[in-house]
Amino acid sequence: MTANIEISNVSKRYGSMTVLDGLSLSIKANEFMVFLGPSGCGKSTLLRMIAGLESVDEGTISINGERIDTLPPGQRDIAMVFQSYALYPHMTVADNMAFGLRNIAVPSDVISARVAEAARMLEIGHLLERKPGQLSGGQRQRVAIGRAIVKEPKAFLFDEPLSNLDAALRVRTRVELAQLRNRVKSTMIFVTHDQIEAMTLADRIVVMNNRKIEQIGSPMEIYSRPASRFVATFVGSPTMNFLDVGISEENGFVSAKLPDGTQLKTAIRAAGLNGGTHALGIRAEAVKLANGVPATTTGKVDVLERLGDRTLLYTRLKDGSVVVAEDIGNSRVAIGDEVGLTLDGSRTHLFDAEGRAWHNEEPGHG
Ligand SMILES: Nc1ncnc2c1ncn2[C@@H]1O[C@H](COP(=O)(O)OP(=O)(O)OP(=O)(O)O)[C@@H](O)[C@H]1O
Ligand SMILES: [Mg+2]
Repeated sequence: MTANIEISNVSKRYGSMTVLDGLSLSIKANEFMVFLGPSGCGKSTLLRMIAGLESVDEGTISINGERIDTLPPGQRDIAMVFQSYALYPHMTVADNMAFGLRNIAVPSDVISARVAEAARMLEIGHLLERKPGQLSGGQRQRVAIGRAIVKEPKAFLFDEPLSNLDAALRVRTRVELAQLRNRVKSTMIFVTHDQIEAMTLADRIVVMNNRKIEQIGSPMEIYSRPASRFVATFVGSPTMNFLDVGISEENGFVSAKLPDGTQLKTAIRAAGLNGGTHALGIRAEAVKLANGVPATTTGKVDVLERLGDRTLLYTRLKDGSVVVAEDIGNSRVAIGDEVGLTLDGSRTHLFDAEGRAWHNEEPGHG
């Protein structure tokens, strides 16, 4: 069973405060959709509205063409997995998983079969007789997912289900979720403020900020062609470099004057761009040490971050603006060094004062 979910012009207010303002969004059947955004942007609220735990003030939500926002939660055929797991402490794992089905009088042989199947899938068969208090965080989290799976819902909603796990378990559970997703054919909506979770799990990401949707796209679209300065800042680590630039046209393309006076040719079409303040965006991976090739400019290394496979160099240009560059893992650069930097002008983005973005014309390049 699966669901195509249509969210149409949905708004939500708490008293006089609008927390979601006219959101529209189509989620395809079997899609893994991630809602990504900073704390307080309304991700959980939107998820809870789909589940029926919050009312919809304006607009509609439909599943497979049928309006559901007026239905009680129990009739929506959706299962939600909470950050806190919300397991019943006095019940065994098996009973926790079976509880929802017993409530709606599913025959007991069907319940047993579904619990066994979910336990097998999640590798928690040996834990079925334990109580939640006798489980690790990761095991509890799997039980919570198991409880959702046995309902065989049309859609799964996850609200930051990994955020209570330690870093290593979080990565492992993320991989397990990705595998589970291939086995359980169902629409999944996953809320997180962790961009790596979003990038690794999603078919498409909905980036939310400030009551609105900033962008909807595949992980690589969001990364390579961020629709706004907010998205460019929020997705990618280290965060994109931004430099205040003056822009001019050269053979139809934008040429940017960096704050230290260096001229950088870009692959961004100049048509449609006005004068005024612009920020040039360039990711650290597009700023390398010159090493033999002519340098675009020079910077003084303030901080070195060794990540093992690569080294991030926090450099300062002559005018004082900061540019993070990338070097090899075994970088021989030292703090205080003056280094030549090569900026790849074909992998730049421009943002105007309102935060709107311009990119080069070749999708996937960025
Ligand atoms: N019951 C409520 N009454 C009043 N305001 C609320 C209520 N629930 C949420 N809010 C407000 O609505 C906004 C959106 O909250 P929501 O929980 O959806 O954010 P979120 O994106 O899930 O954040 P987080 O990442 O911290 O979980 C916040 O400003 C929050 O303070
Ligand atoms: Mg939340």
